[in-house]
Amino acid sequence: MCGIIGYIGKENPIEILINGLKNLEYRGYDSAGIALKDKDEIEVIKSVGKIVNLEEKVKCKELIPSHLGIAHTRWATHGKPTENNAHPHTVGKVTLVHNGIIENAEELREKLKKQGVTFNSETDTEVVAALINKYYENNQVEAINKALKEVRGSYALGILFQGSDCLFAVRKDSPLIVGIGENENFIASDIAAIIDYTNKYFLLEENEIVKITQDKVEITKDGKEVEKQIQTTNMEKDAKDKCGYDHYMLKEIMEEPVVLEKTFKPYLEDLDKLPDLTKYEEIHIVACGSAMYAGMIGKTLLEEYANTKVEIDVASEYRYKNVIYDRKTLVILISQSGETADTIAAMRKAKENNVETLSIVNVKTSTIARESDKQIFIEAGPEIAVATTKAYILQVGIMALLAYKTALTKGLVKENDKVLEEAEKLPRLIKEVLDRRDEYKKVAKEIYNKEDIFFIGRKIDYATSMEGSLKLKEVSYIHSEAYQAGELKHGTISLIEEGMPVFAIVTDDTIKDKTVSNIEEVKSRGAKTIIISNEKWQTEDLQVTVPKISPYFQPILIVPTLQLIAYETAKLRGCDIDKPKNLAKSVTVE
Ligand code: AGP
Repeated sequence: MCGIIGYIGKENPIEILINGLKNLEYRGYDSAGIALKDKDEIEVIKSVGKIVNLEEKVKCKELIPSHLGIAHTRWATHGKPTENNAHPHTVGKVTLVHNGIIENAEELREKLKKQGVTFNSETDTEVVAALINKYYENNQVEAINKALKEVRGSYALGILFQGSDCLFAVRKDSPLIVGIGENENFIASDIAAIIDYTNKYFLLEENEIVKITQDKVEITKDGKEVEKQIQTTNMEKDAKDKCGYDHYMLKEIMEEPVVLEKTFKPYLEDLDKLPDLTKYEEIHIVACGSAMYAGMIGKTLLEEYANTKVEIDVASEYRYKNVIYDRKTLVILISQSGETADTIAAMRKAKENNVETLSIVNVKTSTIARESDKQIFIEAGPEIAVATTKAYILQVGIMALLAYKTALTKGLVKENDKVLEEAEKLPRLIKEVLDRRDEYKKVAKEIYNKEDIFFIGRKIDYATSMEGSLKLKEVSYIHSEAYQAGELKHGTISLIEEGMPVFAIVTDDTIKDKTVSNIEEVKSRGAKTIIISNEKWQTEDLQVTVPKISPYFQPILIVPTLQLIAYETAKLRGCDIDKPKNLAKSVTVE
């Protein structure tokens, strides 16, 4: 998603703005731009591609001396990734940057054209600039308010006005924070952009307009002053660094034992800190991407071991379908960023129907964390790589503990079960799995030049294979499909070619024999099977074996092997592992 940073203060903003954009690269982008203001002169420089291209341009120009500026990384939604479409956009006396989607942009564009406005880009952002400019005489806040009354959609805006030496900002749906420094202040899409300069910030709430100078921040909403509580982040500066690893993805995979232990700790001490799901007659799990696949594991565990029926849906479907809320329901929203537009919409749909919402979320200051009725925070820390790894593992871990607690509450757990003792062992066992990287490199060598790869499994192993397939696709760009092992023979098995890799995830003893026959089916058609299991197989096939553990936690030992296989494969293919093409860390638009 787009990234925004703005600065006003004692320093020249260029280095701060460029550095801030680099700290936002993980959000995904395809062009970038910067605007500097000095008195009534506003200078705009934009470039396509990586931020280094913008840096080059900035270095080659004689820039105006400035203490105020805004900058932006654009993830194209309206209009191709061209320099013309890159932000900032200037119309008349207004220059701004935008994250979000203006849903009625075309209607507004036509109206403004009829009023004599000419547009230079295809973007919805330029339309917002034109609208604010239309209402701007000498009161900036008034112009913003009037313009946004005509706008439908999501926005986080950083705005400069000719005739004012202040920095302005406003947001709706897309996140935006205000950073508080010493004789300097900031705006940013998230704290990572400005952590090098300040750890003090506050969140802008919906439709609050902020007017910022280097030593004053004034917030108004509907014309009324708003007071804010300044927060302090505990994000360490080195959280953004790779700490010696080649990629954030690898660093974050290696953090899994530590962050799992930190996340589990309060609940292993007292499971009652987790909500009681037995109070509800229906459970819905709603999420996107990997978070959805974590939810699939949760559904399987809740149904299999806690005898609890669960509906599961991707948020982009759930938000528009006719959901029947006819019984006491809990909607569980799983989201690392807490800013995924579809998941936010699903949460708001539940709340509009007076249905209780529980979020399993990493970013404590996010929209989903703030608006859901109840929260379970995972302690993944900042996850910079676009492909989620440690956060996914923690989402699965929390779902497993919820399932176990529900089974206990329902009296479905055997007397001397060892589940919580096994949970204590998990960090050490994950570390053991992560240390065996040579095995994963060997598998990667076998598959990195293939075009199509299958992942098959049954029951919880199918849910695990969904994440294994997505991880491989998003970082290595190899086409891959996860399939219920028993379903292949209903058509898709016709795609199996000689030498085609098929990963078989086999950990569920109750169904293992059936999966074995599915492995034979694909092998007899030439597939090269790779067995990912919790026991050693008598086979000449490539195999990866992880320690056997309670079924509640078995996926937490399997998935790191698939994450590292995806990582090593992407490395062999020379992919941009932390910032895969077309992807964004947080999909804050529909
Ligand atoms: C995972 O590797 C992907 N980057 C993506 O599927 C992600 O899980 C999905 O967009 C949901 O994001 P969220 O957890 O921040 O809501």
